[in-house]
Amino acid sequence: MSTLQPPAENALEMIGNTPMLRVSKIDTGPCTLFLKLESQNPGGSIKDRIALSMIDAAEREGKIKPGGTLIEATAGNTGLGLALVAAQKGYKLTLVIPDKMSQEKIFHLRALGAEVVMTRSDVEKGHPEYYQDMALAIAAKTPNSFFVNQFGNAANPLAHETTTGPEIWKQMAYNVDAIVVGVGSGGTVTGLGRFFQSVSPDTEMVLADPEGSVLAEAVRTGTPAAEVGSWVVEGIGEDFIPDILDLSLVKKAYAISDQESLMTIRALLNKEAILAGTSSGTLIAAALRYCREQTTPKRVVSFVCDTGNKYLSKAYNDNWMIEQGFIKRTPRGDLRDLIIRRQKDRAVVTATPNDTLLAAYNRMKLYDISQLPVLDESGKLAGIIDEMDILLRVGDDPDRFSIKVSDVMTSKLETLPPTAGLRDLLPIFERGMVAIIADNDQFYGLITRIDMVNHLRAKLRDH
Ligand SMILES: Cc1ncc(COP(=O)(O)O)c(C=O)c1O
Repeated sequence: MSTLQPPAENALEMIGNTPMLRVSKIDTGPCTLFLKLESQNPGGSIKDRIALSMIDAAEREGKIKPGGTLIEATAGNTGLGLALVAAQKGYKLTLVIPDKMSQEKIFHLRALGAEVVMTRSDVEKGHPEYYQDMALAIAAKTPNSFFVNQFGNAANPLAHETTTGPEIWKQMAYNVDAIVVGVGSGGTVTGLGRFFQSVSPDTEMVLADPEGSVLAEAVRTGTPAAEVGSWVVEGIGEDFIPDILDLSLVKKAYAISDQESLMTIRALLNKEAILAGTSSGTLIAAALRYCREQTTPKRVVSFVCDTGNKYLSKAYNDNWMIEQGFIKRTPRGDLRDLIIRRQKDRAVVTATPNDTLLAAYNRMKLYDISQLPVLDESGKLAGIIDEMDILLRVGDDPDRFSIKVSDVMTSKLETLPPTAGLRDLLPIFERGMVAIIADNDQFYGLITRIDMVNHLRAKLRDH
């Protein structure tokens, strides 16, 4: 049982002093793997530490005045840490975020009072819409503002040199053989590298990098990879070498695929009951490879850098994993391969003929969908109802929400059997409808236009 802390005066005092977990149910070869749970910081990530450190430093150096505006480019977590600090210290906050980041993060940031500016994820450094370039431009025209710039701010690695490093050293009883970490801004690997160089020079710093990022190659050859790819894990991986990143502290690097990263955090949840973010999958996958390669017992440390709560709609959502091709299903060789939410898995959101229009409307809103197949008690397809049907019937009289679905649904359905061809879907899509896959005995599910695009994209990927 960890030692209890006295009550904190505010959330900022709860940053740091995070617990560690020994991995016991996943094969770590001859090694012992320990995870530092940075997900337990109040903002949910390791970035809370640097947010506090960078603002404290700016105040010490007189770079920010009371009531000023903080401006930053972030993948989300630094933004959350800054939003926490800004809210507690009375600063305004403007964040520029690439649009690939999860909805959960954006909602959280806005709820914490930050102004969020979304920008493109598919442009590189130097492009005006690149998130760091855009943040710099906004800072230049905002009076009494401070551009935090985590990628070039010395107080970023300092946070890890003065807090994360000493905590790990103490929690590990002053005996650590290797530390496996990723790079977003470079603050963690540089700060930890400097700390361990001073107290334990034999401790090896190991980089976990998403495939497509330029950094693993830079560790191996001294030159960043020429080609930049794309990756879905969030918070790490880079298309350039950040100013604060000191790769000379890193001795080894692993490039990890999104597939391996996402499968690793799902296994971590199942085996160790820890809900981790996507980048932790990259780190732990690399740490497990490192551990299993060793011939002698080593004490290895890695991180759960943020909580998986922010990725429930993605990495922990089977439908999303299937859509993205990370979970492969046994192909049937017919249209059933395009159905993401299958009726046989009871994954289709449906209505019954006796439901009221209100119940149908609430279900559409809950799942953010615009039509519901209607199935009778025996599970047979009876019709379909969409938001337009509800709108036309309810009109301007809300009492009509009590009308039964059976009185409003379309029951003359155009369906396609699973054995129909891909081409048979196009005329249905051209008429703005979804394809209902059913035959005499059974309703299988719906296929939308994007399902077909994803299917063709997956085919391209698998070729
Ligand atoms: C989610 C997440 N954020 C941040 C970091 C640390 O990156 P940096 O200190 O390089 O920004 C990591 C590192 O693995 C991470 O996984």
